[in-house]
Amino acid sequence: MSIKKLMFQTLSGKPLSFRDPEYKLRLEYMKKMIVKHPQYQEVSDELEELHITSKDSVQASHLNLCGQTGVGKTTVVKEYAKKFPKKHVGSETIIPVLYLKVPPRLRTPKALASKILAEMGDLFANSGTDEELGRRIVDFAKDSKMEMLILDEFQHLIDRDTQNVLATASDWLKLLTEELNIPVVLCGLPESNDIFEYNEQIDGRYPRRILLEPFGFEDQEQQRSFRMFLKYIDEELPFPEHSNLSDPLLASKIHYVTEGVPRYVKDLMIEAAKLSLKRGFDRINEESLHDAFNRITRSNQRYAINPFLDSKFEYFAELKKQQAKIKAFIDERQSNSKRKRKKTS
Ligand SMILES: Nc1ncnc2c1ncn2[C@@H]1O[C@H](COP(=O)(O)OP(=O)(O)O)[C@@H](O)[C@H]1O
Ligand SMILES: [Mg+2]
Repeated sequence: MSIKKLMFQTLSGKPLSFRDPEYKLRLEYMKKMIVKHPQYQEVSDELEELHITSKDSVQASHLNLCGQTGVGKTTVVKEYAKKFPKKHVGSETIIPVLYLKVPPRLRTPKALASKILAEMGDLFANSGTDEELGRRIVDFAKDSKMEMLILDEFQHLIDRDTQNVLATASDWLKLLTEELNIPVVLCGLPESNDIFEYNEQIDGRYPRRILLEPFGFEDQEQQRSFRMFLKYIDEELPFPEHSNLSDPLLASKIHYVTEGVPRYVKDLMIEAAKLSLKRGFDRINEESLHDAFNRITRSNQRYAINPFLDSKFEYFAELKKQQAKIKAFIDERQSNSKRKRKKTS
């Protein structure tokens, strides 16, 4: 029995109301849990290496961390930044690692400059020309002894319709990396890579690219990794008993409904945990997973069956059936629109 499991007492079959503080406490504990799986560790190590080797270096290195939503990009970079919190020394503010989310619908790169300045505590963050703002960022970064800049949601800098913004954004990014000479980490969706294709000079500056991917389930190795991930989660669950999530059949069901995306796994676990607590169970069981699945709505799950409580579930066979349903749906939609076009022409 692990120590973690001793932190939570048995409910002895007594349902726990959501009004009970213990209920909220356990959920909060779950929301905060972070699994340091090998891919996570790889990124975390890479950040540390970048940080250490760029300090007082003639040339800082940079990193582009990309991946679809929910794979854990924000989680890993924020955890890293947390190790180097803002400090106030006398009248000075020291910000060793600045983490920043690029806000959506940015109209100009200047708006980003203002946002960075505001985060650093510049009271005049909104005034000045592009150049002045750029200058101020560099000065502020030096004053606050900044060692690393992390820009999350980087894809928001890329407006599909106005290549113009893209061009200015990349020029501006170039200035930033050149002048600051600190490592800049860009996190974003895979399509944010457009900025690299668009600007060769930037491309050359970000030779190191890490793609964070969802867990696979195709071969034994991938299955083992996913089951390890589930095992870690199981250890961290706020229940006194283990839930056996890494059982091969149960793991295949969990992969089938979550596609191996950490966000979906976590959402499913939280929903199942709530049900288990309300039912007075001391673990997550298939009954709570079954009902949790029905409560979670995700558009791409429309064609998935509920695999929980099904002792004959076969991952690959079900996946095939699901793909066939999706294909039939797409084919039908295409032939419908063809028909419509014929009518109107
Ligand atoms: N290593 C991990 N351990 C635990 N939970 C994780 C992990 N990675 C991601 N998650 C969870 O998945 C969700 C999405 O993660 P996030 O970092 O926001 O993904 P991204 O930034 O790639 O879209 C969050 O709720 C987060 O807690
Ligand atoms: Mg994110």
